[in-house]
Amino acid sequence: MHKKTILSGNRPTGLLHWGNYTGALENWVKLQDDYKCFFMVADWHVLTTALDKVPEIKQNSREMIIDWLAAGLDPDKSVLFIQSEIKEHAELYLIFSMMISMGRLERNPTFKEQIRDLKMQGEISYGHLGYPVLQAADILAYKADAVPVGEDQLPHIELTREIARRYNHHFGKVFPEPEGLVTKFSRFPGTDGKRMSKSLGNTIALCASEDEIRKSLKTTFTDPDRLKLTDPGNPDICAIYSYYQKFAQDDAELTAQECRSAARGCVACKNQLADSVVEYFADIRERRIYYEGKPALVDEIVEHGNTQAREAAALTLATVRESMGIG
Ligand code: TRP
Repeated sequence: MHKKTILSGNRPTGLLHWGNYTGALENWVKLQDDYKCFFMVADWHVLTTALDKVPEIKQNSREMIIDWLAAGLDPDKSVLFIQSEIKEHAELYLIFSMMISMGRLERNPTFKEQIRDLKMQGEISYGHLGYPVLQAADILAYKADAVPVGEDQLPHIELTREIARRYNHHFGKVFPEPEGLVTKFSRFPGTDGKRMSKSLGNTIALCASEDEIRKSLKTTFTDPDRLKLTDPGNPDICAIYSYYQKFAQDDAELTAQECRSAARGCVACKNQLADSVVEYFADIRERRIYYEGKPALVDEIVEHGNTQAREAAALTLATVRESMGIG
């Protein structure tokens, strides 16, 4: 049977963390068998908010690919590539930019939220407003049927569908209307109990060492009303308990009980979790070390992915030029 296509991506802004893993990467690894998969390092997208990060983009992109390989993305099954290496995205972005109104982009909730969080009022670039238009080009350059993303990205998928519809209406049916595939754990707490996010500085890296994991868990947010060992705790608001639910599922129920009845203290609870988490990520850490020691192999994987992506995007752009009769 003909496999459906998916595309997803991530901005290379630093090491991947547990939130990226549970919110996306783990799911991508599973999808590889059932879909034709494209996974993209969205390096151009970094420019929309962080021009000062440009000198780090190349190294961060490489680190991201290594994290992906460590997590289990398989270059024999999936196309792993770098956005800026595929110039077709830029051409499609230009065309799509004429197919969406300013007002529609200004109403994008992700955009509004970012402006509020980054306190960027007054310095928003034209390209930043167009962030989802570039994202639509990323997705539709491969005619992706589905896009596995966290909840926060759904407005961008909706915009992509609108752009596809608009294009098809004017120039004939070229593009599918891709669906978002939302991951269950798309809101994962960070060490301070808020959503885990690089910009909040509350992350634990996917490739963190055992020491780093233990250290991070020591200061991780628990029920703030549980001051003494004998106070009953509330696991539902505790980040440590969320980590149990994800990384030590078999122990989660007992953990909640012992927290509520004050039978287990937070320190012991954290130590036990640390043991499980170190074990949970052992294979990933090992594979990471393997790829770190093989830079030529990583280069080859990226080159191969770029070539495959370029071929696929070139086909789509040929159809686009033909259907519009220009270019
Ligand atoms: N906007 C996504 C994020 O911030 C990254 C991204 C860029 C993306 N292009 C994409 C995700 C295409 C899915 C599909 O996480």
